[in-house]
Amino acid sequence: MSTTKKTTKKQANVQAEEPKVAPIEAVALNEVAAEEVPAEVTVEAKKKILFVASEAAPFIATGGLAEVIGSLSKALAKNDRYDVRVIIPLYQDIKKEFRKDFKFIGNIFVPLSWRNQYCGIFEYTVDNVTYYFVDNEYYFKRPGCYGYYDDGERFAFFCRSVMEILGFVGFYPDVLHCHDWQAALAALYLKTIYCFRPEYQFIRAVFTIHNIEYQGKYSLDILEDLFGISYRFQYLVEYDRCINLMKGAIECCERFSTVSPTYAGEIKDPYYAHGLDQIVRRNEFKLCGILNGIDPDYYDPATDTALFANYSAEDISPKAICKEELQRMLNLPVKPETPVIAMITRLVAHKGLDLVKEVIEQILRQDVQFVLLGTGDASYEAYFSDLARRYQGKVATVITFNSDLSRKIYSGADLFLMPSKSEPCGLSQMIASRYGTVAIVRETGGLRDSITPYGAGGNGFTFHDYNAHDMMYVVNEALGVYRKKDEWEKLVKKAMKTDFSWATSAKYYEGLYLDMLK
Ligand code: GLC
Repeated sequence: MSTTKKTTKKQANVQAEEPKVAPIEAVALNEVAAEEVPAEVTVEAKKKILFVASEAAPFIATGGLAEVIGSLSKALAKNDRYDVRVIIPLYQDIKKEFRKDFKFIGNIFVPLSWRNQYCGIFEYTVDNVTYYFVDNEYYFKRPGCYGYYDDGERFAFFCRSVMEILGFVGFYPDVLHCHDWQAALAALYLKTIYCFRPEYQFIRAVFTIHNIEYQGKYSLDILEDLFGISYRFQYLVEYDRCINLMKGAIECCERFSTVSPTYAGEIKDPYYAHGLDQIVRRNEFKLCGILNGIDPDYYDPATDTALFANYSAEDISPKAICKEELQRMLNLPVKPETPVIAMITRLVAHKGLDLVKEVIEQILRQDVQFVLLGTGDASYEAYFSDLARRYQGKVATVITFNSDLSRKIYSGADLFLMPSKSEPCGLSQMIASRYGTVAIVRETGGLRDSITPYGAGGNGFTFHDYNAHDMMYVVNEALGVYRKKDEWEKLVKKAMKTDFSWATSAKYYEGLYLDMLK
């Protein structure tokens, strides 16, 4: 035993020198996990990590970002070598059932250019993670999280508050982990203002891009007056004659990352980068891609109370009840043999809806049912509502955002279609697989890294080019396999058993943090 201990200590030193970070090359993380992840990441003192983000589940969620903040922080905090904290705004929409347990720990005044704004601080600890909520009713007592004319000012206030709150609570993290453009200014304030103060000087910053499409672009005129950043630092944030907050964070952070290895490669390409490819390429030396995970306890068909029946990979038979009840609920004929193809998505262009529009009517000539749940662009909402009217008894469209119904669909459908044009990571294909609904995806971003083709022994169906007929080809391939009962059951079980937990990816983040702290 003692020999093992000695080796471990020695290994620990080696690991500290050469931490493993997910390779930039496109690889499916699940496949390389076993050999590449250090069995033990040993650090001497407890490392302090602060996540800065605009949303976090379960408190407030508009999309995948919130789920990642909630579940990644929880996964990291399982390791008692990390002190993990998260800071988000205290939005009006954070429900009373949560708020009643938040503890008010004080208030400060936050400087933002010529402004001096009230900032209340609330604290709440769950699953070993300490959350801070930034309270200012002028900025955050509004419905929803985004879409206001003054979003730039709201998130500037939030980020500046983050910096001030560190001093108030006396928590100076080793790593400031900022997510998406709304948190980019926290890194920028650190590197242009606060790093000159002794307590802040050793804080390293990492910026994670969950979607490069949303960059936080503003007119250069407001750099000093609104963001409170001196024109001396204009060069950091300026891009295309605008302020571009995402660009600023990429430039000033020690590292930046994206939410899948494939997407890390893709954003070097103008096709995917929404104008930032040059900046990504220039900073490529500090980029890595780490695949998101999901919380397998939260998404568990064996215990999920939203489901009509519970099941597991050991016994999938109750899934038939989920299907039957779903069909009944959506006014579709209850037909156990008819495959149900589902989509749960925001109705926006990059989700590949044009491909679906192109060939769905051909697909519907077969004995299939199609279910779509989501909200978004009016033109797609109108198209899919109309499709349901024209194909009554075959198509059900539900234009809403409803977590309960989404779980009923994840469990009751047979196939889950996600033909995105681009997809930084995507969580729905993982949730669907976990519920035994086989994913059909385009090979892009995290879809490529999480779903591998059936033909090669994988857990779903994939196609490469953004082409409607290629998509239809694999849909038909999937329908063919569906008809072979034994093969289908094996595939369903394989999908359910794929490890989408954070176990592996959290280790990659640990490697990234240790690498930054060298
Ligand atoms: C964004 C991306 C999505 C990703 C999520 C969490 O919503 O569009 O692909 O899964 O962030 O990282």
